[in-house]
Amino acid sequence: MAVQDLHKTYPGSLETTLRGLSFRFHEGKIAGLLGPNGAGKTTTISILCGLVKAGSGSVEVMGLTQDAVHREKIKSALGVVPQQIALFPQLTAYENLEYFGNLYGFKGPGLKSQILSLLEQFGLEKAAHKETGKFSGGMKRRTNIIAAILHRPRLLILDEPTAGVDVQSRTMILQFLKDYNRAEGVSILYTSHLLEEAQHLCEEVVIMDEGKQVLQGNPQTLVSANPGCRHLEDVFLHYTGHALRD
Ligand SMILES: Nc1ncnc2c1ncn2[C@@H]1O[C@H](COP(=O)(O)OP(=O)(O)O)[C@@H](O)[C@H]1O
Ligand SMILES: [Mg+2]
Repeated sequence: MAVQDLHKTYPGSLETTLRGLSFRFHEGKIAGLLGPNGAGKTTTISILCGLVKAGSGSVEVMGLTQDAVHREKIKSALGVVPQQIALFPQLTAYENLEYFGNLYGFKGPGLKSQILSLLEQFGLEKAAHKETGKFSGGMKRRTNIIAAILHRPRLLILDEPTAGVDVQSRTMILQFLKDYNRAEGVSILYTSHLLEEAQHLCEEVVIMDEGKQVLQGNPQTLVSANPGCRHLEDVFLHYTGHALRD
């Protein structure tokens, strides 16, 4: 997965969101696209997924260029967990997942047992037949993750999956990502503004700020290479300064 010299200005916006962003991640790993709020993380993954068009630059996903020719092929091998929860609040967790399964062309007993086993894996078996509108943030997020993996994607992209969830859900989600990557060999790209969380989870990270790459590498290596820095946060502040980003 790679992006090369991405530029993006939203229509009608006076600000440029991406300013020549480039990076490359290896397949089969857990990668982190990190940076403060407004850095351009959601825009970047929306371009990777083919949901937003870049102004210029190129995108490669699972060895394919993200263009009209490959869009459908990429879509079927990709699972996306958006930053904003995307569930029908009046439907139960089971009904939501059945709906998303049907969208991917799955139905019948195979889909049913797949949904029930994932609900159990995510600690949601008792809540399976409750309306998701009444769920906590963590329960909604876990349901949304299940929705993104029902079709067994090769690449799973999650946008701030731990934002707004309690510590138990967060721990569960992070452990799931590690296990899922290890057991199934699925490539994972996750975005976060929490550098410490990413330092523990990711094998490779890109830190971006104001639409550009600041750093790329293995978190531990980045920390060791910068004497005086004990955490990824120190390295990030060392390179970008302490000015507030709002
Ligand atoms: N649909 C949009 N229209 C106009 N500006 C946008 C839109 N989406 C994002 N932006 C702007 O692009 C910048 C980066 O946003 P985003 O990609 O959401 O960053 P992040 O996910 O890192 O917080 C922000 O300044 C934001 O205001
Ligand atoms: Mg975002």
